[in-house]
Amino acid sequence: MNGLSAVISKLDERNPLEEILVWIGEDLKKVDLEFRKNLRSKVPIISAIGEHLLLSGGKRLRPLLLILSARACGYTGEAHISMASLIEFIHTATLLHDDVVDRAELRRGMESANAKWGNEACVLVGDFLFTKCFSLLVENGNRKILQAISRATTLMAEGELEELIKTNDLSLTEDDYLSIVTRKTAALFSAATQVGAILADAPEEQEKALLDFGMDFGIAFQLIDDRLDYISKEEEFGKKIGIDLQDGKITLPLIYILSQCTPEESELIRRAVESDPVTQETFFQVGYLIEKYQGLTYTFQKAKEYITKAKAHLQHFPYSKEKDALSRLSDYVLERRF
Ligand code: IPE
Ligand code: IPE
Ligand code: MG
Ligand code: MG
Repeated sequence: MNGLSAVISKLDERNPLEEILVWIGEDLKKVDLEFRKNLRSKVPIISAIGEHLLLSGGKRLRPLLLILSARACGYTGEAHISMASLIEFIHTATLLHDDVVDRAELRRGMESANAKWGNEACVLVGDFLFTKCFSLLVENGNRKILQAISRATTLMAEGELEELIKTNDLSLTEDDYLSIVTRKTAALFSAATQVGAILADAPEEQEKALLDFGMDFGIAFQLIDDRLDYISKEEEFGKKIGIDLQDGKITLPLIYILSQCTPEESELIRRAVESDPVTQETFFQVGYLIEKYQGLTYTFQKAKEYITKAKAHLQHFPYSKEKDALSRLSDYVLERRF
């Protein structure tokens, strides 16, 4: 089974993502081939780790958004394939680094690369992916694209670091949290959609609309991810549940309820955040408070607001199947289960 079939097999046939992945399937297969080609190296562990991730069934959302954005702007060339594979390269590199930082054991329902090959190798393979991506971009010669992607990776590194520094910090506000999420996650989605517009040489107004679309889409995507971290099932999510609390990551469900609960309840949350490992009992106690003060409902409502904003940016485009797909993918973010 290739990587694309792996993700399609996890989706229900009525799922909008499945339908769009099948529709864009020929391009996505080429993206995977390009990805594999760029992985080539005399050092076997690079392709071993790269292949492990490629075949493990990532959703290919960023390549998909790039391709749909380019086409929604009328692009008919072929450069979107290599750009989409480079965006997935960056995504893969950040996952490798992120799983080391987060001490993750599971990714996409499989043993994470750091658990299998160790932290050192994963940091270095992540570096390989980043540097390879930038050398290919320099060869490609499109300065605007180079700028968009380098800006995104700088923001991502800042966002990840800011989050790390704020570990266990219960004074984190919703704005601080949104600033982290915007950088660590939304920046890359935004670069993907902007690069689509740049490839198509779209008017400035459309480029800006796609940049903003990707940003709002990406923020909602991470909000939902942080919600799923509390309520999903490991078999479905493909990642361990409760990792945020375990790692002392203060995400929106927790930030919101901290503004509502009693001092005793805040104290319970503080102890839970600082304990490592978090026992099942503690996780349930925090889960009870999140339920009581509707932390998950609040997070979902916020994500919904961002999705409404994201879709509003699409009004700058005439009707096309691609525009419609961007809109349906936005709705899918809210209902996604992995
Ligand atoms: C995971 O992103 C990292 C986050 C931003 C939460 P995805 O959920 O898009 O990862 P894959 O590629 O589909 O596994
Ligand atoms: C996702 O970080 C963002 C990046 C990978 C830069 P998280 O740590 O929140 O996401 P998961 O849960 O590991 O996918
Ligand atoms: Mg993580
Ligand atoms: Mg992380």
